[in-house]
Amino acid sequence: MTATIFLPRDAVAIGLGAERVAEALTRAALARGLDIRLVRTGSRGMVWLEPLLEVETPEGRIAYGPVRAGDVESLLESGLLAGGAHRLRVGRPEDHPFLARQQRLTFHRCGVIDPVSVADYRAHRGYRGLARALEIGAPATVDAVTLSGLRGRGGAGFPTGIKWNTVMRAEADRKYVVCNADEGDSGTFADRMLMEGDPFTLIEGMTIAGVAVGAARGYIYLRSEYPNACETLRAAIAAGERAGVLGRNVMGSGRDFHLEVRLGAGAYICGEETSLLESLEGRRGIVRAKPPIPALKGLFGRPTLVNNVLSFAAVPWILDHGGEAYAAYGMGRSRGTLPIQLAGNVRQGGLIETAFGITLREVIEDFGGGTRSGRPVRAAQVGGPLGAYFPEGLFDTPMDYEAFAARKGLVGHGGVVVFDDSVDMARQARFAFEFCAVESCGKCTPCRIGAVRGRETMDRLLAGEAPAEPLRLIEDLCEVMTDGSLCAMGGLTPVPVMSAITHFPEDFDRSSRLPLAAE
Ligand SMILES: Cc1cc2nc3c(=O)[nH]c(=O)nc-3n(C[C@H](O)[C@H](O)[C@H](O)COP(=O)(O)O)c2cc1C
Ligand code: SF4
Repeated sequence: MTATIFLPRDAVAIGLGAERVAEALTRAALARGLDIRLVRTGSRGMVWLEPLLEVETPEGRIAYGPVRAGDVESLLESGLLAGGAHRLRVGRPEDHPFLARQQRLTFHRCGVIDPVSVADYRAHRGYRGLARALEIGAPATVDAVTLSGLRGRGGAGFPTGIKWNTVMRAEADRKYVVCNADEGDSGTFADRMLMEGDPFTLIEGMTIAGVAVGAARGYIYLRSEYPNACETLRAAIAAGERAGVLGRNVMGSGRDFHLEVRLGAGAYICGEETSLLESLEGRRGIVRAKPPIPALKGLFGRPTLVNNVLSFAAVPWILDHGGEAYAAYGMGRSRGTLPIQLAGNVRQGGLIETAFGITLREVIEDFGGGTRSGRPVRAAQVGGPLGAYFPEGLFDTPMDYEAFAARKGLVGHGGVVVFDDSVDMARQARFAFEFCAVESCGKCTPCRIGAVRGRETMDRLLAGEAPAEPLRLIEDLCEVMTDGSLCAMGGLTPVPVMSAITHFPEDFDRSSRLPLAAE
């Protein structure tokens, strides 16, 4: 009997040796005359267990991890194909506490299916959302998205239904759907995981969007640092076209939806939607002033729906189960689930998709299991490089757009980066200015010049200058950047800086440390 083995081809698993494991397994099976079928999947998102190998047994899939090529022989000796005992045996992945406590709506297929098989996707409820959208028509599809309460997962949390409605109502000869897959935030990887592990969820979501807003062409603007995601997406697009769910006459509806992957230009600012559109049109990524908003005048001057990967990827589930079912998850005005990405100095990093409302403490302690270094947690930066550093005293904040805003923070794209007590928060504040100075598009003065002056002032403080004057200058500078910047790049750089100053003031007085440094 053929034994089915699943092994991720996700970039993280590959980085940790998945290809070597695949080769060792194929070689060993051949030498032993074993009949195996190796299915390459995406990742389940338990990064510390990668490469996580799974085998199909009568009790369901049994997982082993982290598997190295050198473990293959001993695994086979221990009866791997029947789910036998071994020191790397994890058991059924869905019973692992890290996964069992999650509510996977968007990611329920990721790590389970063959990412480029339309048949496998359909066998796991795939394309039911698009079928429903084609049945109910554009206005009812947009209503379902509005009813779900979905807000943009790219960072700003703008209501997705309002944006879709604006593009649907816009009059034009052509409209476009653009997916923002630039994923530039530090500590984030959910877009990549989905594109590598379950690309049809994104493709289906974008096709539903095309049908809803009246666009026959879509682009995925993908960061160039994601070659594996690019390969998987292109293979999935070709498979979708062959299967008749993409391209001409989608699912026999008479509607066309053509999709292309375009590689990004390697700058953080190209993730900002207007800069992205400039880049997609073949120009340098410089921010456009708004209005006009892209929903009315976007790509090539036409109404354009720009959404993040995770926003589009939430839509198939919403159409399949109904907007109300999605809205039943979450708290306050943050409805549905948030794919949280836990990274940095943490024991168990990975992808946690769960309803809004979970606290930062639960994320870091219950899921993350504390720091990898074993030292106490001191800070967590939530929401990417423009997000606030929260001290332990704020860890009971629920993951909710409004609760984070009330504490001068942001949920952003759901990235959580953990730091232990060896972190120097003054250096982190300097890093925020440095990052902005390097990544600024240069269009407006508060950001272009302000970030450089901020870095210089932090250098004076770090060199031991009494902090009162530099800190006053930095606070002034932050006010100017917040109020005067054209986009959120310059406008939000003060968030990490001011949170570091507010919550960790002890790190900013270097003058008293000088004698120590001189010893
Ligand atoms: C400096 C900067 C970088 C950004 N980078 C990204 C990014 O990498 N991915 C993303 O989806 N949105 C990013 N955004 C947000 C986009 O401008 C935009 O809000 C988003 O694509 C809209 O999609 P959504 O409503 O689905 O979130 C960035 C914004 C700024 C100001
Ligand atoms: S804030 Fe910075 S990135 Fe944004 S437009 Fe101004 S210079 Fe460009």
